[in-house]
Amino acid sequence: MNGKSICLIKKTGKVKNLDEELYKKDFLDLDEEMCTHFGLAHTRWATHGEPSALNSHPHRSDNNNEFVVIHNGIITNYKELKAYLITKGYEFESETDTEVIPKLIKYVYDNREDDSISFSTLVERVIQQLEGAFALVFKSRHYPGEAVSARRGSPLLIGVRSEHELSTEHIPVQYKGALLKEDIKEKNDHNRQESNINSVGDGRAVEYYFASDASAIIEHTNKVLYLEDDDIALVRGGQLSIHRMNRQAGEDPVRAIQTLKMELQQIMKGNFDSFMQKEIFEQPESVVNTMRGRICFDSNTVILGGLKDHLKEIKRCRRLILIGCGTSFHAAVATRQILEELTELPVMVELASDFLDRNTPVFRDDVSFFISQSGETADTLMALRYCKDRGALTVGITNTVGSSICRVTDCGVHINAGPEIGVASTKAYTSQFVGLIMFGLMMSEDRLSLQKRRLEIIDSLKDLPELIRQVLSLDGKIKTIAEELYQQRSLLVMGRGFNYATCLEGALKIKEITYMHSEGILAGELKHGPLALIDKHMPVIMIIMKDACYSKCQNALQQVTARSGRPIILCCQDDTEVIGDAYRTIELPRTVDCLQGILSVIPLQLLSFHLAVLRGYDVDCPRNLAKSVTVE
Ligand code: G6P
Repeated sequence: MNGKSICLIKKTGKVKNLDEELYKKDFLDLDEEMCTHFGLAHTRWATHGEPSALNSHPHRSDNNNEFVVIHNGIITNYKELKAYLITKGYEFESETDTEVIPKLIKYVYDNREDDSISFSTLVERVIQQLEGAFALVFKSRHYPGEAVSARRGSPLLIGVRSEHELSTEHIPVQYKGALLKEDIKEKNDHNRQESNINSVGDGRAVEYYFASDASAIIEHTNKVLYLEDDDIALVRGGQLSIHRMNRQAGEDPVRAIQTLKMELQQIMKGNFDSFMQKEIFEQPESVVNTMRGRICFDSNTVILGGLKDHLKEIKRCRRLILIGCGTSFHAAVATRQILEELTELPVMVELASDFLDRNTPVFRDDVSFFISQSGETADTLMALRYCKDRGALTVGITNTVGSSICRVTDCGVHINAGPEIGVASTKAYTSQFVGLIMFGLMMSEDRLSLQKRRLEIIDSLKDLPELIRQVLSLDGKIKTIAEELYQQRSLLVMGRGFNYATCLEGALKIKEITYMHSEGILAGELKHGPLALIDKHMPVIMIIMKDACYSKCQNALQQVTARSGRPIILCCQDDTEVIGDAYRTIELPRTVDCLQGILSVIPLQLLSFHLAVLRGYDVDCPRNLAKSVTVE
């Protein structure tokens, strides 16, 4: 089970009206005496069992809803737990992995050693039995006015909202000793915890929102604290406390409340029909935000604050390893060549899942980069832990401040593209691209032989927003091409060199949201198989830019036209040679070779968007896909 969980606990007043669409089932609990309101909801992406009412969350322990749970993640040992619980007489009603959790907590509760056991102790016992990844929120009839949440491997944050200033911005972590003490305290003693957050104004009204992603709660508050793996958060009588089993050396003893810079309007669609479309059109600004404060165009210097203290170490390394999944992996492919050139180091690019499958050798003098929009992708996070265990320096390239990858890496770069809501990544890709290029520029600052190249790239970065605007103005033409193509079953995208990543990324966009078959093909491989697909019926997009691969790409074009192929060509403006052989052209402004991929990917983002709309699909929420893949 994967998705976003949200839960609201409010100490006084009415329950907030959360986005209706988030609700599959809805449980409200009102404890008159304490005036605590509680709501629990979940958007579900199915890992076990089809999407259906029965399989949706919350799941429950029994018909009386003694315990209810929402879960984001995956329980890998659920079969064993389920088999055990069935022998104890529990009956399961869904096909999910999650359902073992409420059943298990009821089992632990029914077998408790004494009646004073706390809700958080029950949860602590349950999570000790769980394998896999989870962010959980629990509620129980036996503990009115209380909610408990816990995480391991899946993201979980708590939004805190109050009309007035909060009495503290640091919640101390309580360790097991404190937890046991708590067990023997009276259940209704609400005033004793040192970690209480109160509103300074009236000492009462505080609301807590548990969620997997800040964008789910930003409508309500911009104050959040991020839970660490194995943290247990308890809200009781309107007070929040955080517990852990054991204290480990170097562990942060507090969880700090941070103020998010994200604005509500950033996660609204504005005048656009979909988030994806809005995010494509935001790219002139989002690339500027990635560069802001980092590139000085007067002195031609580039400083990435998050890396500068590690620069010496990075310069001494044996190789760079760039790791990611999906679009983030393509950002690595797109920048590999220029990073090899500017750093003069070997650069490996790796899909996180394959990197792990191969048990790839990693050494202390490697520098490993983890590229991830969300900062939460399970495979990327596991590859990060793998590299960290082997002593490599770990660098995050992420878009989500406070995400797991940000927190686990030694250092990194926030790409600052702003929240990306559409499942198909667009602006994060171009910002990751710019972020990695800036890293290359910073690494080559003192290399005399590379100065000319550096200046050419820095100058081109300055012009990039305007060139992106020019590409976006081709939207009408691209829509017309989409109208010709939308009933096709397949679409090939071919190119090489600096534009090969655009082929992979363009094909990914097309398959993700249009459900057409699409393949990104390295033009150099044409004769080794793909040529067999070419005939007058097969739509082919070719990317032919005026760079070092130009004549090789022209060669590929000849091979395609000789087999009656009708290529749609992305080429440089006024390239009359290529235009003559094209069935259709999309003519792009020219920039330095290593940045051309930023301009060449945008027409394919737009094309996939128009194809999906024409085919009648939901652009932002493609079937079977999730924005953050927090399960393996
Ligand atoms: C999912 C998303 C893709 C994204 C990939 C990696 O598959 O649908 O758009 O590229 O995950 O996500 P990340 O957050 O690590 O960049």
